[in-house]
Amino acid sequence: MTALTSPRVPTAYLNMAGSGPVSDEVLAATTTYLKIEQQVGAYDTELDHHVELDERVYENLGTLLGCVAADIAIFDNATRAWTEVVSRLSFKGARRILTTEYEYAGNLQYLKDLSEREGLELITIPCTDKGEIDLEWLQSNMGNDVGLVSVVHVPSCCGIINPVATIGEILSGYQAVYIVDACQAVGQVQIDVHATGCDVLTGAGRKFLCGPRGTGFAFVSAQLRARMSPGFVDLHLSDIKADGRIEKDMGNARFLEMGERNCGAIIGLSRAIEEALHGGDRLNDGIFRIREGVSALEGVIPIDPGRNRGGIFSFRHKKIPAEEVVRNLREHRIAAWRIKGSHTPLYMLPRGHIEGVRLSSNKITVEHADLVVAALKDMLA
Ligand SMILES: Cc1ncc(COP(=O)(O)O)c(C=O)c1O
Repeated sequence: MTALTSPRVPTAYLNMAGSGPVSDEVLAATTTYLKIEQQVGAYDTELDHHVELDERVYENLGTLLGCVAADIAIFDNATRAWTEVVSRLSFKGARRILTTEYEYAGNLQYLKDLSEREGLELITIPCTDKGEIDLEWLQSNMGNDVGLVSVVHVPSCCGIINPVATIGEILSGYQAVYIVDACQAVGQVQIDVHATGCDVLTGAGRKFLCGPRGTGFAFVSAQLRARMSPGFVDLHLSDIKADGRIEKDMGNARFLEMGERNCGAIIGLSRAIEEALHGGDRLNDGIFRIREGVSALEGVIPIDPGRNRGGIFSFRHKKIPAEEVVRNLREHRIAAWRIKGSHTPLYMLPRGHIEGVRLSSNKITVEHADLVVAALKDMLA
């Protein structure tokens, strides 16, 4: 086996939109759990940690998102959470699905397949000239023939924070299921699913929440669960009886999960949420300093729409490819990421953003932010 090494530890970490660094405590919780599994056996370890795995982590997620534990299901990533819920919705009587220009490519591909299969029209809510979701358009085009409205809270490509609660107000009173992809928002933006008025909200543990990889979750409201077809329920919540009947426990959102799970990662996720809940401010000044400093550099084309923006700042350069900028930043021990326009295709591609450099953090200090701006100034001069 190849030896595991860490060739370069960055001084400034700016790829939290990819995956945030776990704290020493989160790492210790996961590795300690795995160590116990090795010594005792995984099934017995799971039994011994049943309260943490079957209660506390759900309560923690409920506190983070503003709902009860019964509304939470845990998955191995955000796309699984999103597709698992959407796959169980019924679109009887619906003619349209609405999404936005900021839709994540994975969700969008699913929506395209779904709308073809179900004979629905997939419509994109346009943006205003400031790059904000056009709420007036939504207000005048919403109707009871819309089966699903899918909105990304913070997109993958840039820092705009979409007005999910105002959208929730516009949608209230309509039949449509309202799903919010909060994958990039959780951990940097305060979330309250009831104030948002959504039926479903999904997220990943590994990004701004700084939990372990391989974790994701969904809030699914009790009202929506009551309308969902149960479909297949895995053996953690179902049982075949002697007469052949299948008994399914639909008492909480966990019927959406698979029975098998990565317990060590879930233990780490629970710790990461506790840290986020006690961590105070979710956004600091550093990224705003980067946004301002880098936007002013010669040749930089900011990819930075909207007026309400958070911990992601993206740009491209008129001449230097993103890959080269990212490689060069790495040599300065700054972790950044080259994004593909096709991951947020409806916003990026029509504007000519085939790729970009994404800098993302809710923790970067002002001193490190200044280092990043200085490094880019040298490089792009
Ligand atoms: C906005 C958004 N939604 C969904 C996802 C998918 O998350 P996952 O890779 O955990 O499935 C991402 C991943 O970057 C994302 O940025």
